[in-house]
Amino acid sequence: MPGTCVIGLQWGDEAKGKLVDLLTVDYDIVVRYQGGANAGHTVVIGDDVYKLHHIPSGILNSNVTNVVGPGVVLNPPTILDEIDSLSERGIGVLENLMISDRAHVVFPWHLLEDKVINDRPVDGESIGTTLRGIGPCYRDKVGRSHAIRLGDMYRPDFRQKVESIIAAKRTFLAQANGDSELDGDEIHSEFAGYAERLRPFVGDTTHFLLDAIEANQRMLFEGAQGALLDIDHGTFPFVTSSNSSGVGVSAGSGIPSRWIKKVIGVCKAYTSRVGGGPFPTELDDDMGQLIRDLGHEYGTTTGRPRRCGWFDAVSVRYTSRLSGIDCLSVMMMDVLSQLPEVKICVGYMLHGKQIDYFPSHVDDLRQVKPVYETIPGWQQDVTAARTMEDLPEGAHRYLARLSELVGKPVEVVSVGPDREQTIFASDAVASSGSGGD
Ligand code: GDP
Ligand code: IMO
Ligand code: MG
Repeated sequence: MPGTCVIGLQWGDEAKGKLVDLLTVDYDIVVRYQGGANAGHTVVIGDDVYKLHHIPSGILNSNVTNVVGPGVVLNPPTILDEIDSLSERGIGVLENLMISDRAHVVFPWHLLEDKVINDRPVDGESIGTTLRGIGPCYRDKVGRSHAIRLGDMYRPDFRQKVESIIAAKRTFLAQANGDSELDGDEIHSEFAGYAERLRPFVGDTTHFLLDAIEANQRMLFEGAQGALLDIDHGTFPFVTSSNSSGVGVSAGSGIPSRWIKKVIGVCKAYTSRVGGGPFPTELDDDMGQLIRDLGHEYGTTTGRPRRCGWFDAVSVRYTSRLSGIDCLSVMMMDVLSQLPEVKICVGYMLHGKQIDYFPSHVDDLRQVKPVYETIPGWQQDVTAARTMEDLPEGAHRYLARLSELVGKPVEVVSVGPDREQTIFASDAVASSGSGGD
């Protein structure tokens, strides 16, 4: 039975949420398997806009079970707010949302620690995290002694765990900023309340998914962040704290990689990045501002203006290979429509030599100078295009060149935020959930 993954190939916000929502109709289960409330995935259906941080973007289709897997770091108040606001909008979640009891929980001390860490530059620059406690929670998970999983919150020693962790955290926080603001009783009773409200959704998702594989159910895995933010393979240390490239699917969900039959790489027709770190094709000028304005490039989670620049084929070829993608889904094609010409980065200059690989060290990445190819723009509104034939020749030329440079076919093109504003260039993606072995 095939599993399909949707993976962001840049620094996040590639419009993964839109694509997952669209594809969901062909699947039985949609799984979030890494990241946490740092993600902000937008789904637009007519006048209705849904911004999802924790709940998989399959939730708007009532026939699908949505799973938050063990690799996610869970922020209870955020997911409860999301459950409430979906319910208020008539979207049922009780029957079709399941959260892993193995997921690690983000506590108030993680939020305080994230702020402390973020205020301190790393390699001369702030990471610019989303301040959602993601790094500190993953660090405690790997460190083991100060970690609480969702399932632990139902056990008799939960209170004791909170107390002992707070004692350790107070010391760190007092040294770091002189104010720990942590009250054990308050935190315990607040989180015990969240645990009660979450109880109907909590279960062993690993078993559930393994059983589902045997029952021939179709699964769609929804990546959060983007592959360039991957903790091991991204622009370290300016990354998130999970494996956000394709390599993270199996570890975060518990599904062996042999069941993953298709990987769809999602990218914007240009590049954006929010937070610190190197960005070789960044446009710190009027063109960058124009792209930001045309693409409404402001963060879904934090509202921060996103840094914008040209499409970088060197980095996307790298992340496409890393994630083992089968095809590309190119989003935001409409945003470039007004421009008289568009540029694509086809290589980097580093220490006087042209290179075609993505350097592993942040210092080298800071020094690379993009080598651009300039392509005439199409200067035609494409928001009403629904088939490849509807796209102007210039847009075809641009997409063909991206595909050639990345080495994979473009199977989906997005020309606006709405579900409807999507072109399936072949049947391969639209029907990837059915059939197969
Ligand atoms: P995600 O985190 O990858 O799910 O992406 P975000 O939701 O953070 O950011 C993508 C933004 O672009 C959202 O506001 C979407 O509604 C919007 N969007 C998606 N596809 C398109 C498109 O083709 N054109 C335009 N103009 N906007 C799009
Ligand atoms: P979606 O799923 C864009 C960025 C932050 C920061 C770095 C580390 O919506 O694509 P963190 O809070 O994870 O410790 O921050 O990663 N970042 C994202 N950027 N989209 C996201 O998620 C992101 N999640 C984290 O801005 O640079
Ligand atoms: Mg986002």
